[in-house]
Amino acid sequence: MSPIPLEVSQVRLTRVAANWVTAALPEGGFAVDATVGNGYDTLFLADRVGKSGRVLGFDVQKMALNNASELIRFAGNLDRVRLVLGCHSGLGRALMGYPRVDAAMFNLGYLPRGDRRIVTRPSTTIPAIAALIQRLAPNGRITILAYRGHPEGPEEYAAIRAFLEQTPGLEVRELTGDAENELGPRLFLVKLAAT
Ligand SMILES: C[S@@+](CC[C@H](N)C(=O)[O-])C[C@H]1O[C@@H](n2cnc3c(N)ncnc32)[C@H](O)[C@@H]1O
Repeated sequence: MSPIPLEVSQVRLTRVAANWVTAALPEGGFAVDATVGNGYDTLFLADRVGKSGRVLGFDVQKMALNNASELIRFAGNLDRVRLVLGCHSGLGRALMGYPRVDAAMFNLGYLPRGDRRIVTRPSTTIPAIAALIQRLAPNGRITILAYRGHPEGPEEYAAIRAFLEQTPGLEVRELTGDAENELGPRLFLVKLAAT
């Protein structure tokens, strides 16, 4: 088990996540948004992969996918995006037939302005992360933004941290915007360790 060092970021964690995956995402690449929500991350990934790339997005809420597809269509990028209504624990099966994953993003928790009872949970988040690690390209990158300020958040954060620490072959960094805030969000930056 390798302990994950905690770093403090002056830059917003959503911005850090986007910048960090960009380096692994070539034009024509393949990206996954494991929690589509209102579609901002999906749109960002679709923009990065360009016309010849592909983005696969998951969300359990029809309302989220409707919002997301409207946003992505408005931006003219829907042609390269496939949105799946379903739990991201189905990612292992869904990824068969796709190339290896260049970049994947998890923005956990609940849909902003949506139903707060529909929230990501470790029992499905962990299998989804595991499936992505299995299908990650050699230089691929995964970002996991875990919110700890809602009731289910601390347990999910702790489960992800323990899982990442126990999984061999990974290089993981953990970032906070405020090390003093016990309920502040945490960002995990995950890639395969160089062999
Ligand atoms: C914080 S939001 C995502 C924000 C989004 N990435 C964006 O750019 O707007 C979290 C989303 O995760 C979704 N979600 C919850 N459980 C899920 C699951 N098991 N599989 C896939 N999505 C899930 C929620 O419906 C919600 O839309």
